[in-house]
Parts: sequence; structure tokens; C-alpha cells
Amino acid sequence: MKTQVAIVGGGPAGLLLSQLLHLSGIENIVLERRSRDYVLSRIRAGVLESGTVQVLNDADVGGRVAREGQPHEGVELSWHDERLRIDLEALTGETVTVYGQTEVTRDLYDAGDARGAEIVHEAAVKRIEDIEGIEGSTPSVVYEKNGAEHRVEADFVAGCDGFHGPARQTIPDSVRREFERVYPFGWLGLLSRTPPAPELIYATHERGFALCSMRSDSISRYYVQVPASEKIEDWSADRFWEELRRRIPADVADTMVTDGEVLEMSVAPLRSFVCEPMRHGSLFLAGDAAHIVPPTGAKGLNLAVSDVYYLHRAFDLFFNHGKSDGLDGYSDQALSRVWKAERFSWTMTSMLNDFPHYDPIEKRMQKAEFDYLTRAETARRGLAENYIGLPF
Ligand code: APR
Ligand code: PHB
Repeated sequence: MKTQVAIVGGGPAGLLLSQLLHLSGIENIVLERRSRDYVLSRIRAGVLESGTVQVLNDADVGGRVAREGQPHEGVELSWHDERLRIDLEALTGETVTVYGQTEVTRDLYDAGDARGAEIVHEAAVKRIEDIEGIEGSTPSVVYEKNGAEHRVEADFVAGCDGFHGPARQTIPDSVRREFERVYPFGWLGLLSRTPPAPELIYATHERGFALCSMRSDSISRYYVQVPASEKIEDWSADRFWEELRRRIPADVADTMVTDGEVLEMSVAPLRSFVCEPMRHGSLFLAGDAAHIVPPTGAKGLNLAVSDVYYLHRAFDLFFNHGKSDGLDGYSDQALSRVWKAERFSWTMTSMLNDFPHYDPIEKRMQKAEFDYLTRAETARRGLAENYIGLPF
């Protein structure tokens, strides 16, 4: 089989790229290792930048997010006994939209169904071959389905296969550079059918960080920081609620509703990771395949969307206008935005979480960072600009 762009991975990055390429008349196929139900059962973050919502609109999948997404004008920081509201709208003129990544993925699958997209599930990519442009060779992707091997030949391959996928490893060691920091703790998340607090609350506490978030008026998402070694089996919902209550502002804890159905609980590690370059020959990486941010800035999905925005534009320039400069500039352009989001997520993580190995001077630095935010509007504006998302 032959196509123009073979897309490895049917998470949000791969599905969005497929949809945008289709709208530009560029033939593509998506190969996804898991079943559709499995992909849609993964609970991920839920804060969309306005640029992300704009790209979803451009991709003709913005209808439901416009109807059901919740605009949020601000977020709150709680620092031990102090409270600080970051008024995103007053500081930047923009808001963020609360809408689950799972719902974005569902909207993309629905759009794929409507156009008869070629999305192959339970298709595990084993190898990506001939991406180096050697005369007479054609890039191809080899995948396994139902025990048999299949091959797709393509002009280009998009590696949208997440952090554990094979695409990144196809870039030779002599070319690839990886930057990584694994944090010494994780976040334990709980999704519940309970009314949430009105705004997101990022709470720093001596027992560890906590976050109050939401998916809708009736679904809440909460997190508590836990040691990296923590086992989910050791946590009951009751233990979670009790720990959360101790870390968040007392008035929020007192009014928090906890007697609803618990829909999911899981522990996620925290990691900063970047792979350079994001292109090698005919292979282009996008989303978690190329970078991971810790969740403290809510940037993971938004970064995947900005990569896909640049990559789609580059393919459109190439196939529809005969120009390769978009493809040539993709890696530098995407990485420039990626590193700024890495910096922001790193700063937020370092300021708000409890680092067990921090010495007294590092703890005072965290406090000074928070005090500066409290006193200087310019500092709050800097945070807000990054939170609502840097321009594409
Ligand atoms: N063959 C085919 N598909 C694969 C393979 C493989 N060998 N390996 C991985 N995949 C699939 C995974 O099953 C997954 O569905 O690639 C997909 C990658 O999707 P995501 O991990 O969701 O990554 P991405 O689309 O880049 O989305 C980024 O997801 O992890 C969050 O915080 C992150 O919000 C961000 C978003
Ligand atoms: C979430 O709702 O899951 C969420 C929100 C904000 C974050 C991280 C996660 O910073």
C-alpha cells in the first residue's frame, strides 16, 4: 500500500494531523497499536489554550468544544495559608477552556468516521525504514496486525506515537540528542462524579502539592503529589479525599463534595523530556514522541497541537505549493516553542511542588518566587501569558 503521509499513533497528535491533512487534500493513514476503546479510556489533562481551540476549529472539530467547553478567566494559587488569583483575562485578554483531552480525541474519531478516514487499530508499528532519502529508496512503515506483517510506503512518516513509541528511536544515535529530568515524585489523580471548585486551584502545602481541576459542572479532577514509588493499591478514595482536604484552602475543603462515584484513580510520574531534532530525513516527530512536560503547567496536549499545526502547514506547503522550506524549518520552529513550554512547566513545578531533597536555601527561593508573584503584576502577567499559551 502507498500513501503520502503515514502517521504512526492515533492519539490526539496523530488524529489531528490526519484530519488537517485530509482537509488539505493530502492522503494519509493512521496506524494505532491499541483499540479505539482503549485510546478513549485514557484519562489525561483538560485545559486548552485558545490557540488549541482555534486549531480544532480550523480542523472542523471545534463544534462540541465551543458548546461544552468551559471558559475559565483565572486560576488560583494557594501557598500554605496565602491565596493568589491569577486573573488570566485581565492580564492577557484571553481565557483557557476546560475540556478533556479524551473528548478532543473522541471528536477527532467522530470526524474521522464521517469522512471514512483510514485509521487502522491494533496495528503495532515494528519498524520505520528508509527515511534517509537514499536514491531509489522509499520510506516505509512495517506494522503487525492479527499476527501478520504489513507494509505502508509513504512520501513522509509522522511519528505521533507518544513517549514509548518506536519513531524517535529510528533517528540514529549519532544524530539524536535527548534531554531528560525525572522528578522524584508523582501525581496521584482522582476523577469523580462530583461538582468541582469553581476555578482551578494549584495548592502548595508542607504535606505536598495538590490540584483541584474539573472536566465539567459535574465531573471533578483532583491530584495529590505522592512519592514516585507510591502504589495505587495503597490508596482508597477515602484516603485520597482526606489527604486532599489537608492540602487545599480550608473553605474549599469544607465545602468540597466527595460523595460521588469515583471514575478513575491513577499515579503519573513527572518528567521533563525533549528530543532534538524533531525531524530526520523523511521522519517528523510530533507530540509526546518528541517531548514530555510535567503537568503543572497543563501544556502537554497544547504542545502536541502546536507541533501538528506547524507540521500540517509544512506538508501543505510541500504538497500543494511545491515548497520544502516548511519541512526544512519544522524542527527548529517546533523546538523553539517546545523549549519555552518546557521552561514554564519546569518553573511552575519547581515553585509549587514539594521537593524532598530541597535544602533551606531552595525552600526560601520557592517562597521568594511566590512573594514576587504576589507583589508584582509584571510577574503575574508573565505567568498568565505562558498559561494561556504563547503565540504559535
Ligand atoms: N504502533 C502504533 N501506535 C503506537 C505505537 C506503535 N508501535 N506505540 C505507541 N503508539 C500509539 C499509542 O498507543 C498512543 O495511542 O501512539 C499513541 C500516542 O498517543 P499519546 O500518547 O496520547 O501522544 P500524543 O498524541 O502525542 O498526545 C500528546 O497526550 O500524553 C498526553 O500529555 C500528553 O496531552 C498530551 C498528549
Ligand atoms: C487536569 O485537569 O487534569 C489538569 C489541569 C491542570 C493541570 C494539570 C492537569 O496543570
